[in-house]
Amino acid sequence: MKYNIAIDGPAGAGKSTIAKELAKRLEYIYVDTGAMYRAMALYFLRLGFAATDQVAIVGACQKVKVAIEYKDGMQQVILNGENVTSFLREEAVGRMASAISIYPEVRLKLVELQRELAKINDVIMDGRDIGTYVLPDADIKIYLTASVKARADRRYLELKEKGIKSDYDEIKRDMEERDERDKNREFAPLRQAEDAVLIDSSNQTIEEVINSILAIKENTK
Ligand code: DC
Repeated sequence: MKYNIAIDGPAGAGKSTIAKELAKRLEYIYVDTGAMYRAMALYFLRLGFAATDQVAIVGACQKVKVAIEYKDGMQQVILNGENVTSFLREEAVGRMASAISIYPEVRLKLVELQRELAKINDVIMDGRDIGTYVLPDADIKIYLTASVKARADRRYLELKEKGIKSDYDEIKRDMEERDERDKNREFAPLRQAEDAVLIDSSNQTIEEVINSILAIKENTK
């Protein structure tokens, strides 16, 4: 049996930073499921579809093939044969990913791939529905959250460090909207699994959160 760690939570809580580092230390594979939704979003954006055009999106789902590869330990997302990893972090792609992830057809397309990866590898998988829906039997489930202010502060700083000018209030508004949509969609919404451990990272460093998760792992062996 492979070891599966599920980390769910809202945007900006630190999931990917923490999951990546944990994967390195434990020599597990890091599976970023948000990147898969982003790849689907990129596909629909390139086709010029509106997020509200359910008929077009559901119809096009059959033509999308998303696959995952690893290069120097980093996840690469392959969309219909093209490595699109470098296009996925843009805010517009993230917004579209949140909007199109409400459609069950989009989700089901990716869930199979996610479950397959967890079956054949020791994984740390992050997303919104990993502990509740994708891997209900995961060995460890973490629900990682932080206040909207802490999350918006981090995102603003992250963009500033990259030399990208942004509007703080817009980032905060966007985050609140995304939380609202991710938590309230009908199919596999973002929520804490009953058996997940809640970690609030608002006032914790990355190292503190990593140590908490490693301690949980030690105690659940
Ligand atoms: O984690 P992220 O910001 O890369 O995710 C982008 C969007 O994808 C997120 O707002 C909602 C959706 N998503 C999802 O619905 N389920 C997941 N397991 C991962 C992401």
